[in-house]
Amino acid sequence: MAGITLQNISKSFGATRVLRDVDLDIRDGEFLTLVGPSGCGKSTLLRIIAGLESQSGGHVAIGGRAVDQVRASERDLAMVFQSYALYPHLTVRQNIETPLRLRDLNAWERLPLLGLLSAGRAAKMRRLRAQVAETAEILKIEELMDRKPGQLSGGQRQRVALGRAMVRKPAAFLMDEPLSNLDAALRVHMRSELAELHRSLATTFIYVTHDQSEALTMSDRMAVMMGGEILQLVTPDEIYHDPRDLRVAQFIGTPQINVFDAAISGGQGVTVNGVPLAAEVTGDGDLAFVAVRPEHLTLLPADGAGQPLTVTLKENLGADFFIHGHIGDGAAPVIVRATPAEAADVAIGSVCALAPLNAAEVMAFGRDHARLDLVMTGAPAAVLERV
Ligand SMILES: Nc1ncnc2c1ncn2[C@@H]1O[C@H](COP(=O)(O)OP(=O)(O)O)[C@@H](O)[C@H]1O
Ligand SMILES: [Mg+2]
Repeated sequence: MAGITLQNISKSFGATRVLRDVDLDIRDGEFLTLVGPSGCGKSTLLRIIAGLESQSGGHVAIGGRAVDQVRASERDLAMVFQSYALYPHLTVRQNIETPLRLRDLNAWERLPLLGLLSAGRAAKMRRLRAQVAETAEILKIEELMDRKPGQLSGGQRQRVALGRAMVRKPAAFLMDEPLSNLDAALRVHMRSELAELHRSLATTFIYVTHDQSEALTMSDRMAVMMGGEILQLVTPDEIYHDPRDLRVAQFIGTPQINVFDAAISGGQGVTVNGVPLAAEVTGDGDLAFVAVRPEHLTLLPADGAGQPLTVTLKENLGADFFIHGHIGDGAAPVIVRATPAEAADVAIGSVCALAPLNAAEVMAFGRDHARLDLVMTGAPAAVLERV
């Protein structure tokens, strides 16, 4: 087990800067997710931790030991990829055994026949078999041990790939989008299996994904990356409820958070699309946007005293509806979460009413995307209106 520390890591491929001074402290035993859009540098960062790629600048330490000069094979980390990279001609048992054979048997002992003459080999093989059996039991793949990868489903292959990584009891697991080859239902199922595996192994997991729902469901902490930088590193709850950057707020959460133009107008405090919000921004910052999650907007009956919302789409998710529309003749889309009862009367093309914004549920952001502190100055609501 080991914590991992990255200090000032930068990476360029030729003239292209891919990572910019990344600092990251991964705690011993935590499930940490690197999440961000494709191309933001997640895999590159993971490969630098693994030692598969060398950084242009900065330092990596594992368990307090600097590993900048340490080869990948000596870092005691296990990597699990999206492509399972199993040996197709070997059985599941042999696939899982391979890393142990390479580590524990010397070249002589690995020979098929002559190896049998080695004095210590039998004891080593017994130990090795016991470790493989234990791994198979944890992953519940005992009945698959004599099959070849070609005879397995995607989920089973992924479990075998995990087994091959686990069997050496590495200091940490590095996983790069390990579920992206699976179909949607299996992906959701494997999330809970991975979270459970993490609990039972109590080993550091560093997990890369572009899928924010994977990050939200599995992580102890998640680092949201964009453009080669970590924008925020906190728990999933904090990322969702207290994003410190508009880009984080927009990347996390489905459907996307609603963003409105906002400004500070003399005497009126914060205005949203020109309408007062009964709130003030404290501290410095050039207010430019406010953002509200779809579950914090409310539809009123059509004759309610709200802002007219022209409905363009009703998305039925069973337990919830997402009502898409736009305010007045404004082009900016708005998405509201509604209960089936609230959605029942809403017809596409009709105009319904949006309840006044509750300032307590509004997040403010500056022109530079940084979060601004908002304090309420009166009644908690304002009517949204385009001017
Ligand atoms: N070996 C390489 N040579 C040149 N550019 C690379 C190389 N590997 C990655 N990149 C570039 O670095 C950026 C980050 O890549 P990557 O770390 O794979 O992103 P992610 O995993 O977040 O999708 C991308 O723009 C990619 O094209
Ligand atoms: Mg990648």
